[in-house]
Amino acid sequence: MSHLLFEPLTLRGLTFRNRIWVPPMCQYSVETLDGVPAPWHTVHYGAMARGGAGAVIVEATGVTPEARISAKDLGLWSDTQRDAFVPIVDFLHTQGAAAGIQLAHAGRKASTYPEWGTDHDGSLPVDEGGWQTVAPSALAFDGLAEPRALSEAEIAEVVAAFRSSARRAIEAGFDFVEIHAAHGYLLHEFLSPLSNNRTDSYGGTLENRARLLLDIVDATRTEVGEDVPVFVRLSATDWTDGGLTLDDTVHVAGWLKEHGVDLIDVSSGGNVMAKIPVGPGYQTNLAAGVRQGSGLPTAAVGLISEPFQGEHILATGQADAILVGREYLRDPNFALRAADALRFDIDYRPAQYHRAYK
Ligand code: FNR
Repeated sequence: MSHLLFEPLTLRGLTFRNRIWVPPMCQYSVETLDGVPAPWHTVHYGAMARGGAGAVIVEATGVTPEARISAKDLGLWSDTQRDAFVPIVDFLHTQGAAAGIQLAHAGRKASTYPEWGTDHDGSLPVDEGGWQTVAPSALAFDGLAEPRALSEAEIAEVVAAFRSSARRAIEAGFDFVEIHAAHGYLLHEFLSPLSNNRTDSYGGTLENRARLLLDIVDATRTEVGEDVPVFVRLSATDWTDGGLTLDDTVHVAGWLKEHGVDLIDVSSGGNVMAKIPVGPGYQTNLAAGVRQGSGLPTAAVGLISEPFQGEHILATGQADAILVGREYLRDPNFALRAADALRFDIDYRPAQYHRAYK
C-alpha cells in the first residue's frame, strides 16, 4: 500500500515530516483584546503537533489592529505579541511539527463580533469598540458595514505592515508564513472584480488587481530570506458569474511562482454570497487545476476527513499535501490515526504515551 501522506516534503530549507497539515482556524480566544496568544492557543496548537501533524498553521493573525476580523483575533504588529508566540512555536518544534502562521488583513470583513461568546453577529459598531473598515473600494460585504476605499499611500502601509509581521514571525521562530488572500478578506477583495472597482494601478485588469498581493509577497520574501517557504492561500473561484474563476487563479498562481511563492493553499469562496457545492473533497479539483496550470505545489483543503481520502488526493496528483481542518478539531491525533489506517510505522508517537501502543 502507498504511504504518500507520510512521505516528507522539502520546500526551500524546510522539510515537513509528512503531508498532513493543519490549516489556519481562527479561535477567537485572545483574552486581553490586544492580539496576544493565550493558554488556549498553546494547548490547541500543541495538541495537533503532538498528534503527528506535519505542519500546524496558526490562524489568521492581524498585521495591524484594524486587520483583525474581531477584537478576539491574534495579532503580530507588536514585539509583545511576537514574544508570546515563542513558547508556542518552541513546543510545536519539540513535537516535530513545522510551525507556520497565516498573516492576514480582514479588509471589509474586519470589525465584526467574534464567531462565538456573544449573542450578536455582523459588524461591531465603532461606539462598542469596532473600527472603520477598509477595502479596495467602498463596497460592503452583504450585511456588514460599508468600508472606506484605501488610498495609494495606505496601500503602501498595508504592504509595510505585512512586511513587519513577517519579520516578527521569523523572529518568533516560525518556519514558514502563509499570506491570506482568500475568503473575501482584503487581498481577495483586491483580486476579485466583484469587490474592486478601482481605476488606479490596483484595479481594472487581473494583473492590476494582483499587484497588492505580489507587492506583499516581495516584501515578505525580503524579510524571511531565501530559506523560508512562503505560502499563499487563494480562493480559486468566487463561485458566481462575473467573479474570479479558476482560470484567473491559475494566472495569479503563475505570477506568484515568478515572485518566489512556494505553495498555493487552494480554498474557495467567501467574497460574495454564493451557492457553493459543499461535499467531501469539494475543492480538491481546484487544487489540481492550480497545480497543473501553474506548476506550483498545492495543498488541498475542504472536507478532507479520512486517511484514505487524503492518500487518494496525493496519489491522483491533485495536491502535494492535505490540510485537515474540522476533523483535526474533532481528533487532534488525526495523523497518528492515519498512520494506523495506512499501516505505516511512524516513530513520532509521543513517548509519554508509549504504554498505549504496546
Ligand atoms: C476556518 N477557516 C479559516 N481559513 C483561513 O484561511 N483562516 C482562518 O483563520 C480560518 N479560520 C477558521 C476557523 C474555523 C473554526 C474553521 C472551522 C475554519 C477555514 C479552514 O482553514 C478550512 O479551509 C475549512 O474549514 C475547510 O476545511 P475542513 O474544515 O473541511 O477540513
